[in-house]
Amino acid sequence: MTRIGILISGRGSNFEAIADNISAGTIDAEIAVVISNRGEARGLEVARGRGLRAVCIPSKGLDRQIYDRMVVEELRQCGVEVVCLAGFMRLLSAEFIREFPNRILNIHPSLLPAFPGLDAQHQALEHGVKISGCTVHFVDENLDAGPILIQATVPVLDEDTAETLSSRILKEEHRIYSEALRLVISGRYRIEGRRVIRT
Ligand code: GRF
Repeated sequence: MTRIGILISGRGSNFEAIADNISAGTIDAEIAVVISNRGEARGLEVARGRGLRAVCIPSKGLDRQIYDRMVVEELRQCGVEVVCLAGFMRLLSAEFIREFPNRILNIHPSLLPAFPGLDAQHQALEHGVKISGCTVHFVDENLDAGPILIQATVPVLDEDTAETLSSRILKEEHRIYSEALRLVISGRYRIEGRRVIRT
């Protein structure tokens, strides 16, 4: 069974959706560890409540390389093969990424490459797009870049606020993150340039 490590910074609802699917037997994996860079992350509590290994490695004041080394060490000790960033609010160093080549996934609440970075739902609303959505992609050294595994669309409604749009997108996030994880675990894809092609 594939051992996954989940990195969070806050609420952890994407982590919970993945954990639910694992419990339901629809993802052939086990969560080896949940790591947060913030002690107050709600997701840590949830992980502990589920009997999972939940570790806080505070990032405040630490050099990126030193911090990343600590996280990689924890992931290695737990035998992690696939890393899922789920609301982890940090860029990863090149050294971290090299440790898990094409084995780190991220979810972003927009149709990348539109609206990378913070407050993607707000950015989409301000831009006036009529369709937005979410993206699961492999992580490379650039922010919200890397080959795209799966995207899902949602309509942007005239009466939307950042909150209503975010919650519509979040529902799709919870669905496609697990779908992408299943694909990566199955190994039934190849990467050609930026394209992830199912095989
Ligand atoms: C999600 O919107 C995700 O796309 C973004 O951060 C948010 C995390 O939410 N990267 P949660 O912690 O999974 O509830």
